[in-house]
Amino acid sequence: MASVNLQQVHDTLVSVAFEAGRMILAANPSSISTDTKLNAVDIVTETDQAVERMVSTRLRAAFPTFAFVGEETYQAGVTRITDAPTFVVDPIDGTTNFVHSFPNACISLGLVVDRVPAVGVVYNPFQDLLFTGVKGKGAFMQRNASLEVEGKGRGEKKVRLPLGGLANPPPLGDLSSALVSIEWGSQRDGENFELKARTFRKLAASKENGGGMVGGMRSLGSAALNLCACAAGQLDIYWEGGCYAWDVAAGWCILNEAGGMMASGNPGEWETELDSRVYLAVRGASRGQKEIVEEFWRVIGDGRMEYKH
Ligand code: IPD
Ligand code: CA
Repeated sequence: MASVNLQQVHDTLVSVAFEAGRMILAANPSSISTDTKLNAVDIVTETDQAVERMVSTRLRAAFPTFAFVGEETYQAGVTRITDAPTFVVDPIDGTTNFVHSFPNACISLGLVVDRVPAVGVVYNPFQDLLFTGVKGKGAFMQRNASLEVEGKGRGEKKVRLPLGGLANPPPLGDLSSALVSIEWGSQRDGENFELKARTFRKLAASKENGGGMVGGMRSLGSAALNLCACAAGQLDIYWEGGCYAWDVAAGWCILNEAGGMMASGNPGEWETELDSRVYLAVRGASRGQKEIVEEFWRVIGDGRMEYKH
């Protein structure tokens, strides 16, 4: 890994995240201009675009030699993430939640080096909740995080992730005891959609009917927040196909640093690329990670999700 001062990057990203948070909170989702990309559920607002402009301006000024990939300036088939230190940024992850004023949206700021997540900062301004991770240095969560910065009082102490402690996190059982996060994503037809729908049904079905009988299924509406909840140990598993590198880069670093693991959302692949667009994340556990991945893959069966880059 090229020599990069990861702590300096982290500190800058936290400062940028708070500025983005102020912009997001200042926006009025009911009156801002909104457009669609792929289809009616793939939304972009003027706030997404304004936040990305601010983030890229600040990061290019602070780290002029690093590359920058952001959701709102990405060009399909053209933009590539190379081995160079690269900021991988989603200005608002959870845009659908944002436009509904559902308080589950965040800014997701990742740095990848050699295409490996090295720093992650995810900030939900609605809950003033900050998640951070630096490769080799652990992952943290902080509530009331901006109060410290704005001098309004003290943010709560940062707590190390997972919340129960990194030394001996609870073991994972089988799917029937798991809280699983899944997302429909924006592609609503074709084989990927059919496979997701079949798998959701099978996850929920009773064991007698060949299902996984999962403890519960959630959709936080933000890939980054799903990954952070896995890192915290609040979710056991998160499965998604269709999201992009900017949705997962920051949260992936935080998950790794909290003892979690990321496999492919397609059965049989223990390693997955940053931009594979198919992910299966599992929380840190003293045992049972491999077993629950294999059980999940058996529920998926023979199907595979394939997405274009
Ligand atoms: C979306 C969210 C959502 C996921 C979609 C993403 P956006 O990102 O992360 O949870 O299911 O695949 O596109 O559009 O809010 O940035
Ligand atoms: Ca986004």
